[in-house]
This record gives sequence, structure tokens and C-alpha cells, in this order.
Amino acid sequence: IMASQIGQPTTLKLTKHIQFAVIIGSGVMGAGIAAHLANAGIRTLMLDIVPKELTAQEEKQGLTLSDPAVRNRIARENRQKLLKQNPAPLASKSLIDLIEVGNLEDDLERLKEADWIVEVIVERLDVKQQLFATIEPFLREDAIVSSNTSGISIEAMREGRSASFNARFLGTHFFNPPRYLKLLELIPTTDTNPEVVRFMKQFAEERLGKGVVIAKDTPNFIGNRIGTYGLLVTMEEMKKGGYTIGEVDSVTGPLLGRPSSATFRTLDVVGIDTFVHVANNVYDLLPEGPEKDTFEVPAEMKRLVAEGSLGAKSGQGFYKKVGKQILELD
Ligand code: NAI
Repeated sequence: IMASQIGQPTTLKLTKHIQFAVIIGSGVMGAGIAAHLANAGIRTLMLDIVPKELTAQEEKQGLTLSDPAVRNRIARENRQKLLKQNPAPLASKSLIDLIEVGNLEDDLERLKEADWIVEVIVERLDVKQQLFATIEPFLREDAIVSSNTSGISIEAMREGRSASFNARFLGTHFFNPPRYLKLLELIPTTDTNPEVVRFMKQFAEERLGKGVVIAKDTPNFIGNRIGTYGLLVTMEEMKKGGYTIGEVDSVTGPLLGRPSSATFRTLDVVGIDTFVHVANNVYDLLPEGPEKDTFEVPAEMKRLVAEGSLGAKSGQGFYKKVGKQILELD
């Protein structure tokens, strides 16, 4: 059957190059992705929401909520953090000049300049759907649009959008930190034009140095699905065998030729709260059955999060940092 006979659009307008990208959401991942694009020489505009209140400092300076300095504050501060983070997100500090900042209310017209728009806002389906509805009228018809969601359905996210939008929409799931983790999952929907997937794969491999995997639109895609599964099963087996965290880390780490960080040390670096969020997401999205049960977060891990032991970021997780020493918890 000819595509035109089944009512599909027969022509795709697609940008030839990615020279300018708009990143919406300037937090941990948005800023990290902007930095990684800067490392590849690509200019970006990073947009965030407009603050609802003045800081004490802004009030002292006599600024109001309509001053651009205040309106762009969130993205500006998040950009500044890139200069302080370790390991460094930017290959050289001067590359920060490739990252402009703004806010989503005042800069919608600038979306027309973008070859690629990346959504990196809060992990909520309704908020993401609302964002795509807001930006659609401002996009160039050859621009690529993607979401960096770690687990929300890409199909569900683009509900209500036009056929032209949907042909150029897909998931681009970067891993944290984007400069250092090579994996990039591309998640097409049933409507994503294959040419868009081919273009993004080539772009990500050649310009961004990524190892690209094309994933299906299943809860948490591949990396996070296998990662959470592996860890939860490891905890089960560990309990059954009566092994300690240190024992598990040593047999799943250097003794098997893997990096010294191994299972629980890696989890402390990722953040136990982040892990629980990801595992809960798979749990919520799977139908009842034994597979779903595997993704139930064990009580010990929930307790760690409840008491604020989130891993390296809070100084204590499965391991505790005392001065320069890292000790295994009981
Ligand atoms: P974050 O909380 O650090 O940053 C989110 C940013 O989006 C904030 O600056 C917030 O002000 C802004 N924002 C929220 N609603 C907005 C809206 N309606 N319009 C514009 N800006 C808005 O979150 P993070 O960690 O950067 O995550 C962002 C996305 O990336 C999520 O979908 C998350 O699942 C995904 N992700 C996160 C990873 C991680 O390790 N943190 C890894 C891979 C994906």
C-alpha cells in the first residue's frame, strides 16, 4: 500500500544540521545536556520557568518580577553551576559562552531558531503534555523535538499533537552525567519518521560521541529497566544468602573485572532516592504479576530514603563517609 493511500503524510521536512538547540528545563540533566552540546560546538538556549518570588538579594537591589534578570534567574543560576561541578561537564570553561539562558514565557518566539528542541522538565506526564501543546505553534516545521524522560511513555506524551509534530518527535534519553556516560537511548513512537531516527542516531554518534541504542517505548526503556531489575534481584539473593554489602560489592566489582564501584557503591553515587523513583515507576506501569513484584522496592531501601540517607549526595547511603574514609554500614 502506498503511504498516501493510508492517509500518512508522504513528505517529511527535516533540518539538515543541528547548529542551534533549545533545551527546556535547566536542572541537573538540562544543564548537563547543554554543556555536552557546547562541548560539540553546538549553541543552545536553555529555558526554565519564571520565578514566582523575589530573592532577598533581588529585593535589596530594587528588582521586580518583571525584570529580565529575575525572569531568567533559574536558568542563569543553573548555567553558573556548570563551572563548579566535578567531574567538569564542560571540556573548557569558555564553552559556557555557547549557552544562552532565558525563560519559557518570554522566549517562545525564539523556538523558531531551533533545529532541535529537547524537553528536560519535571518527570510528570501532564506537565510534559502541556508543555508540548504550548510550544507546538512556535516550532519550525523541520525541527526535531525530543523528551529526555527516564521512564514516561513517549507515545502518551505526544497525544493531541499534529501528525507533522509526531513525525519529528521521539525520546532522547541521556544518562547522568551526559558528558561522561556514553549511552543514549533513542525511543521512537509508532509515528516517528524513520528518517528522523536515522538522522538523530548519526548525529549523536558522530557529533556527541554517543553509543546509541534504539529502545522500545516500554516502562523505563532498557538501561534503567535492566539496571533496577539487576539491583533488586541482587538484594533478594543477598538476603537469602546472608551476604554483606561489602561481600556483594567485592564479588560484583573488581573480582569480576568490573570497576571498583560495583553494586551498592554505584547506587550511592546514583542516589538511592533516584533509584527508588525509577523502580517505583516501573512497578506502577507494569501489569499485576510476578514481573511487577520484582520491582517492589525493599523496605530497607525505603527506610534509607525516609531517613534522608540518599547516598553520596547526603554523605550516607549504603556506605557512610567519615572524613575521607568510606565505611560500609551494618
Ligand atoms: P531537575 O529537577 O534537576 O530539573 C528540572 C528543571 O525543569 C527545573 O529547573 C525546573 O524549574 C524546570 N521546570 C519544571 N517544570 C517546567 C516547565 N513546565 N517549563 C519549563 N521548565 C520547567 O530534574 P532533572 O533531574 O534534570 O530531570 C529532568 C528530566 O530528565 C526528567 O524527565 C527526568 O526523568 C529525566 N532524567 C533525569 C536523570 C537524572 O539522573 N536526574 C537521568 C535521565 C533522565
